[in-house]
Amino acid sequence: MERIVCMQPYSYLVQAEKLFSIDPPIKASIHNQSQQNKENNTIVKKSKKQQYQQENRITRRKAFRNLPPGPPGLPIIGSLLELGSRPNQSLAELAKIHGPLMTLKLGSVTTIVASSPETAKEILHKHDETFSARTVPVAVAAQPNLEATVAWINGDHLWKKKRRSLAHICSLTTDSILSKNFVTKRLQNYSTLYLSEKELFAPRWTLDLQAIRRSSSLSWLQMDNPVYELLMAGSDTSAITMEWVMAELLRNPHELQKVREEILQQIGIERPVKESDIEKLPYLQAVVKETMRLHPTVSLLLPHKAQNDIDVLGYTVPKNTQVLVNAWAIGRDPKSWEKPLEFMPERFIKSSVDYKGRNFEFIPFGAGRRICPGMSLAIRMVNLMLASIIQPLNNCSVARL
Ligand code: HEM
Repeated sequence: MERIVCMQPYSYLVQAEKLFSIDPPIKASIHNQSQQNKENNTIVKKSKKQQYQQENRITRRKAFRNLPPGPPGLPIIGSLLELGSRPNQSLAELAKIHGPLMTLKLGSVTTIVASSPETAKEILHKHDETFSARTVPVAVAAQPNLEATVAWINGDHLWKKKRRSLAHICSLTTDSILSKNFVTKRLQNYSTLYLSEKELFAPRWTLDLQAIRRSSSLSWLQMDNPVYELLMAGSDTSAITMEWVMAELLRNPHELQKVREEILQQIGIERPVKESDIEKLPYLQAVVKETMRLHPTVSLLLPHKAQNDIDVLGYTVPKNTQVLVNAWAIGRDPKSWEKPLEFMPERFIKSSVDYKGRNFEFIPFGAGRRICPGMSLAIRMVNLMLASIIQPLNNCSVARL
C-alpha cells in the first residue's frame, strides 16, 4: 500500500487516509517524500531551462558571428551617421565596398541590406515567409491603431484577410478614384481628402452591397481602415511618381514629343483619354516604367524582419534582424541594365521585364508575399494622369517646355 500511496500527490492523501486509515507517522513520511520529489523536479526543470538558454546563447552567438560583411560602425550609434540625407544612395555606395548582402548596425538594430537582383530574390522570393514580418520605425509606431493597418503588421492570418480586402477595395475603387468628379473636386484640397473620401464611399460601406465586409469577417472599424490606408499609401507614392515622370520628360524633350505623337495618333484631341485607351499607348507605359526604374518612390521598400535564424547565400541572418532591399540600387545595377543611368524608355518596349515581382532587377513595388497590393491601381492612375496631362499640349507649349 505504501508503494501505491507514494505515487500519489499529497492532496490525494486525505482520500487515501479515509479509505485505508493511514498511521500518522506513515503519513508524515509520505508528505516529506512528496515535498522532496517536488524539489527534485524543480531542480531538473531549472537545469533543463538553463541548458536550453545556454544552447540558445551559443547558437545566437554563432549566428551573429556568421553575418554578412559590413562597415564596423561606431559604438552605440553604429553606422547611422553614414546614412546621411539620402540613405538609398549611401547604402548603394557602401554595397560597392562590402558587397550586395551587407550588415550594418543602425543604432542597436542589426540590419541586412540586399542591393542586387540575386540577393533581393533570396529575401523576397526564396525565403519570403521568413522575411514576411516587419520592423516598425519609431516614427510609424507613434501612429494610433497601427495594428489595424496592412503595411505594418506581421504577415499572419489577420494580415492575409486584411490584405485580401484591401486588394478587393482597390479593384472596386479604380473607377471612383479616376472619375473626373474625384480628380477635379476632391484632389483640390488634400487636407480634406480623408474626410471627403469617407463620404465618397459611404453608400457602399453602409449597404455592404458587394458583401466585402461580410465575406472577410472583419469588423466595421477594421474595414474603415483600408480606405484610409489606400489613400495614405496610394496618394503620396503616385504623386511623387508623377513628379518624377514629368521631371524626366522635361529633361528629355525628344521622349516627350514621342509620347505626345503616340497619343495624337491613337486617340486624337477630340475626346479625353480613357482608362481603356492606355493599352494602345506602349511608349507612354514604357516612359512610366523607365521612370520607376530610375526613381522608385519607396526606394528601400518597407523594412522586412527575419522571423527566425536563416541561412542566406552562406551567411546566417539572425532572428529579428531588420532587412532592407535597395530597389533604387537594383534599378541602376550595371550588371542588369545597359547604360543604367540614361533615360531610355525603349528598353522596356523591346523586353518583357515588368514590375509585377517576377523580374528582380526591377522591383519598384517589391516582390513576394508583401508586394504592394495597390500596384495595378497605381499604374493605371499614373498612366492615365500622364496621358491626360500630355494630350492637350500643343507644339508651341512643348517647344516652350
Ligand atoms: C506608384 C505608386 C506606389 C508605389 C511605388 C508603391 C510601392 C510600394 C512598395 C515598394 C511597398 C513595399 C513592398 C515590400 O515591403 O516588399 C508597398 C507596400 C504597400 N502598398 Fe504600395 N505603392 C504604390 C501605391 C499604392 C497604392 C495606390 C496603394 C493602395 C492600396 C498601396 C498600398 C500599399 C500597402 C497597403 C502596402 C503594404 C503591403 C504589405 O505590407 O503587405 N500602394 N508599396
